[in-house]
Amino acid sequence: MPRNAPGPAPHQIPGLLRLAVSDPLRSMYQTVSRYGDAVRIPFAPGRNIHLFCRPEHAEHILVARQQRYGKAFTYRPLREWIGLGLITSDGELWERQRRLIQPLFSHRRVSTLQPLMVDAIERMLREWDERPEGSVVDATEEMSGMTLDIVGATLFGADLTADRDRIYHAVETLQDAVTKVIKNPLTWVSAKAARRTSPGFRQWDQAKATIDEVVTRVIADRRSGRAESDGRDLLDALLNARHEDGTGIGDVQLRDEIVTFFMAGHETSANCLAWTLYLLSTSPAARERLEEEVDSVLAGRAPTQEDLDKLVWTRAVLSESMRLYPPVWTVERDAIAEDEVAGVPVSAGSTVIVPPYLVHRHPGVWSSPEAFAPERFLPERSGERHKYAFIPFGGGRRGCIGNAFALIEVVVALAMITQRYRLDLLPGFDPVPKVTVTLRPPQEMAMALRRRA
Ligand code: HEM
Repeated sequence: MPRNAPGPAPHQIPGLLRLAVSDPLRSMYQTVSRYGDAVRIPFAPGRNIHLFCRPEHAEHILVARQQRYGKAFTYRPLREWIGLGLITSDGELWERQRRLIQPLFSHRRVSTLQPLMVDAIERMLREWDERPEGSVVDATEEMSGMTLDIVGATLFGADLTADRDRIYHAVETLQDAVTKVIKNPLTWVSAKAARRTSPGFRQWDQAKATIDEVVTRVIADRRSGRAESDGRDLLDALLNARHEDGTGIGDVQLRDEIVTFFMAGHETSANCLAWTLYLLSTSPAARERLEEEVDSVLAGRAPTQEDLDKLVWTRAVLSESMRLYPPVWTVERDAIAEDEVAGVPVSAGSTVIVPPYLVHRHPGVWSSPEAFAPERFLPERSGERHKYAFIPFGGGRRGCIGNAFALIEVVVALAMITQRYRLDLLPGFDPVPKVTVTLRPPQEMAMALRRRA
């Protein structure tokens, strides 16, 4: 017999929402530790919010019954920024665009982009080589500049190095602003109205104009032939795509997809790498093992495709970092049809939250869940956990299209950085994440660059 999940009484909800706004991670922790793995928050008549945090729940919602769920209303404020690209669209538009873009992100296809990734990482390392020993950098900003360079070179054939700082600050501003809008209760009614009544409205417009200007230039350069292309990148695919009736993708759709890939394609990987550098600087044994692996597999040269499988510890370190700090910390769906999750009824119209952050730190699923222990991701131990205990890329048909791309990128970047540098965190860094659309380091991550002998 299905039974409603436990959860707060109506009079407790305002307090819970206040905490969810000021400290989302703590409010989620508190809620599941008080009520259990499946929580029901009766938000409005006929409209519940459900919180699910077990791997079985993730599999059910994201994969087994995915047809019953669409992207949640909480993604709507993002539309005000990135429009209706792959992340924010639904239904027929999403299906058509995903079918078009998917082949470009197959493992085989993205493997061919590895040399361009190596070049971009090398550009950053050469800039570091120019600095005096012990120079201090903001690791988050460095990683963001590098991953933006990679996206520009691999997906759009564009050199974005001159725009790095502007884009970094614009993305930060937009993320802060979108987060405020998502937390504004008006979002339930209208994302537009929520945006207009949230603080930071003006900065939002300026930041969005910066991103739009860069994207418009990238498109114009390709259309006019000013920017070279091998005829096979994402921008070409979008420009050359034809629907069944022979029409191409309209200018607005083109802009939305490109902004989506700019954002989705660099910020997440940058956060993953920044958190990884932080974790390694607090774990000398893991870092030494990483250095030994990189030195012995690569023997001083840049990683090739064949090397990636051999960099077993490197991959384990990155997985463990994404377990503790999943760049996309929450995945949310609206039920479009009735469902039952682990015996709990979910009515159509309810919102379902499956946070990778909680699934990844579930004490019934992971031993010592708060500890940084990359060995749990060594291949011989992969059978120890549920397939959906580790979901940094989500799952099912709305799972990350850039999964294979991101994994190649972060492994190659961490290996190349480790070959040449050791980054030591300066005292005073507070590792409690800043929760926006992604899980960012809370402030400048000041790290000293030391060349390895
Ligand atoms: C470590 C890096 C990354 C992480 C952790 C990550 C995580 C995710 C997650 C969890 C989702 C699903 C969200 C949901 O179900 O609501 C997603 C979707 C998406 N990601 Fe990633 N991502 C990463 C890198 C990338 C890269 C490099 C690209 C592009 C080059 C990319 C492009 C996208 C797009 C376009 C979607 C929307 C897919 C759709 O709904 O069809 N991501 N990502």
